[in-house]
Amino acid sequence: MKTPIIIDTDPGIDDVIAITAAIFAEELDVKLITTVGGNVGIKNTTNNAVNLVNFLGKDIPVAKGADQPLLNKLVSAAKVHGESGVGGYQFEVKENRTLLSSKHAVEELRKAILNSNEPITLVPIGPLTNIALLFKMYPEVKNNIKEIVLMGGAVKGGNRTPVAEFNMFVDPHAAKIVFDEDVKIIMCGLDVTLQTRISNDDVKKIEGYGKVGEMVSQLLSGYDSPSTAADEFAIHDLCTIIYLTRPELFAGKRATVNVVTEGDASGCTLTHYNEDGNVHVVLDVDVEEFRSEFIATFKKVHEQLGY
Ligand code: BDR
Ligand code: CA
Repeated sequence: MKTPIIIDTDPGIDDVIAITAAIFAEELDVKLITTVGGNVGIKNTTNNAVNLVNFLGKDIPVAKGADQPLLNKLVSAAKVHGESGVGGYQFEVKENRTLLSSKHAVEELRKAILNSNEPITLVPIGPLTNIALLFKMYPEVKNNIKEIVLMGGAVKGGNRTPVAEFNMFVDPHAAKIVFDEDVKIIMCGLDVTLQTRISNDDVKKIEGYGKVGEMVSQLLSGYDSPSTAADEFAIHDLCTIIYLTRPELFAGKRATVNVVTEGDASGCTLTHYNEDGNVHVVLDVDVEEFRSEFIATFKKVHEQLGY
């Protein structure tokens, strides 16, 4: 049986790659996509999500969520993802389906979670604003959430400040609400995502995979997100999806995570390892297998899509 998932996202170049991989993963069933302001403003993140799903020819609903963090002002990452959020890429849309819900993301999240026969896996790959609002407004949804597999945080270091990862930095108050809940969280933070190196040679291989290959190649040509190796990219958000489809490639430890919400260390995820913690912190990945999985995924997407 496929695992039902909901992706909460701020597309975002690596978000687009992660969403595409999720939609075509035979192990996953993407029930809903909700958008949040993050990498760029909510108008662009929502347009990008709708255009992507149309480009991929799917009928997955999209719902627009919070445009601003709970307390802070939105800090974007347009330097990394371009002003539109997808570099200079223009989606080619064959048929415009009506995907965008008239309801707020939090309402659609509530409905999708409570109506699901199987517990839902939430996959937040942007700031956690929508998820925090959901837990505050409709705490009953927690009974039908299997786990949260998120991209965000870091045990050591940051990419937005010396101690804070971008998604946590943008909305630390939301992150604190989510990490403090009694739900199981898989944290794919910078400790693991910076290891997932994708080289220009890998991108060249994918470029040959039809229009979807062109999309990946054009997106990554405008992506300023280096990994730990020179000339290679870290496709952070994709870690959550490959974690769900190939968990055996990853290793981690149980912990409790305290999110700093004020001051110079705002957005820092202080990680205390302990077997009773609600968080599984992902720390390592088989880099070569991840690379192969990335290439194989887009070959499969191209074959299934037929363009
Ligand atoms: C995270 O920040 C965003 O720029 C990416 O989309 C990813 O979710 C990495 O720190
Ligand atoms: Ca993201």
